[in-house]
Amino acid sequence: MGVPFFTTVREYAARKNEFDSAVGAVMERGDFILGKEVAEFEQEAASWLGVKYAVGLASGSDALVLAADILGFSAGAEVLTPTFTFFASASCVARLGGKPVFIDMDEETLAMDTAKAAERVTERTKGIIPVHLFQQTTPMQAVLDMAKKHGLSVLEDAAEAWGMENRVDGCWRRAGTMGDIGIFSFFPTKTIGAYGDAGLAVTDDEELHRKLKSYRVHGSLAKYQHDYIGYNSRLDTIQAAVLRVKLRSIEAAIAARARHAAHYNARLEGAPGIRIPKVAADNKPVFYVYNILIDDRDGLSAYLKEKGIGCTIYYPKPLHLQACFSCLGYKEGDFPVAESVSRRILALPIFPELSDDEVDEVCDRILAFSRKR
Ligand SMILES: Cc1ncc(COP(=O)(O)O)c(C=O)c1O
Repeated sequence: MGVPFFTTVREYAARKNEFDSAVGAVMERGDFILGKEVAEFEQEAASWLGVKYAVGLASGSDALVLAADILGFSAGAEVLTPTFTFFASASCVARLGGKPVFIDMDEETLAMDTAKAAERVTERTKGIIPVHLFQQTTPMQAVLDMAKKHGLSVLEDAAEAWGMENRVDGCWRRAGTMGDIGIFSFFPTKTIGAYGDAGLAVTDDEELHRKLKSYRVHGSLAKYQHDYIGYNSRLDTIQAAVLRVKLRSIEAAIAARARHAAHYNARLEGAPGIRIPKVAADNKPVFYVYNILIDDRDGLSAYLKEKGIGCTIYYPKPLHLQACFSCLGYKEGDFPVAESVSRRILALPIFPELSDDEVDEVCDRILAFSRKR
């Protein structure tokens, strides 16, 4: 049997009535722009995360740009960001005229290496973008201590991190709620995914909240009065309606992902040539992505695809080697851990509706491949 890398079709089939009636209600009212589900979702999301304010935006990428703009990650500012991440974690700074300063990663956990980040702080450093990748957060105690010491603003890229937690000053805090602004993506594959593009920015700061609300409507809180040169980046009401349905069952979705991850761990740990990233201390993981590392990654990927098993590579090329960032002057060899991980990493199918038999099928194929080597 084949196994899809990801699909929303099973979830929709199982909860069709809930989704149809939530979306239908918006169609019946016709308040597509900042309709009532947007404010309802913002309140529910803020309360679930344990943060004062949430602002619904058009995507996670937009949320990064708005937040970076508001925090002044623009002309002349240096901003520390991992090289091993999704493009938008750094493009948000570059497009505002700021300078992304790339940082290598920790091989064991795949998170940004915070000790290396500390070495790159200069008098021009304005901020840091810790990105919580795959299943766990960047060590936030180190990030927040560094930010305090050097007066940096912290923009948490929690696009992938709904529900992940990190212990800071002895207290568990949800990803996205520890920095000045945290952002989330609701791209359909995410732990909480919309049925299209959608995003969110969260903060505890009243002034930042006011600016986020203004920036998403062309810098305007009163109609046709523009305080800032903002953007058009509102969370769509239909997507907010979908997200409200999903948020009602998010704990079960997270638990199902954890069960699949434990199943993969039990079958794959210790298999010849395969390494599984570790969950660091002070982290409560959420398995948005389940990765393995293997030297013959391209061989395994081709083999799985031939057997009908979906898999994908996050990320095949670190950002310091992307053509659009060549002006920053980085070269191959500058970030050896990220370069090595990008050649060996492979993401396996993980989503709540996956069956135990499907996880077994993926593992059987991987083990057959690894034993042949
Ligand atoms: C780490 C990270 N940052 C930012 C984004 C951008 O989010 P979006 O696709 O909603 O624009 C994504 C997701 O795709 C991501 O994984």
